[in-house]
Amino acid sequence: MNAKFAINGKQIETERLVLRPFALSDLDDFFAYASEPGVGEMAGWNHHQNKQESMEILQRFVQQDKTVAICLKLDNKVIGSLGVEEYGLEEKLSEFFPYQGRELGFVLSKQHWGKGLMTEAVQAVINYLFDEMHLDFLTCGYYTFNARSKRVQEKCGFKPYRKLISQTRMGTEQETILNLLTNPRKNIKLQFSHPETLIYQD
Ligand SMILES: CC(C)(COP(=O)(O)OP(=O)(O)OC[C@H]1O[C@@H](n2cnc3c(N)ncnc32)[C@H](O)[C@@H]1OP(=O)(O)O)[C@@H](O)C(=O)NCCC(=O)NCCS
Repeated sequence: MNAKFAINGKQIETERLVLRPFALSDLDDFFAYASEPGVGEMAGWNHHQNKQESMEILQRFVQQDKTVAICLKLDNKVIGSLGVEEYGLEEKLSEFFPYQGRELGFVLSKQHWGKGLMTEAVQAVINYLFDEMHLDFLTCGYYTFNARSKRVQEKCGFKPYRKLISQTRMGTEQETILNLLTNPRKNIKLQFSHPETLIYQD
């Protein structure tokens, strides 16, 4: 099942980052990376064309309270986002019926790629969700051409779970690997359904 989740004012500090809720005053920073060609597209959405478009999404972030702003301590700028989303196919994936989980999704401003920052952010959010919110599992996906995202997920301990075709918000279809991470502090035993897309190995 999808776990209930809201950021609820929570801030997480890592070595180089502050993870916190978005505010409408983050518009300029948000637009700066959301409008960079080749950032959103790797996560399934077109880069933003204008600030109005970014403002509409930002309002949704603030209202829904499930997308964390990734803020660089060095200059206090928001350089990316990390969504604690509902996982899809909740009705079909019977292995998760007795368990509580969410799906992670993330993007980072291009100029900050390759410095280990997203791994730092994702790892901190995983620790929070498993150790303090006591979630049982997390999923996280990447399009098969997205080697950087694949690597971030590997470094955070995710294991390949299913190979699927997913619909992007750009109206295209992409081959996707969905990864899975179970809470190592719990004894989670999953009875997997739908063997036709399953690639998980214990
Ligand atoms: C995916 C993304 C979040 C990664 O963020 P990041 O901070 O650069 O990630 P990290 O630096 O923590 O790790 C990147 C890893 O990919 C590796 N990498 C970089 N380019 C690569 C390539 N072309 N092929 C394979 N691996 C590559 C890096 O070497 C690093 O691994 P290492 O630590 O073992 O050396 C960032 O590239 C991004 O925002 N991309 C666009 C949006 C996106 O793809 N979101 C994910 C959607 S599923």
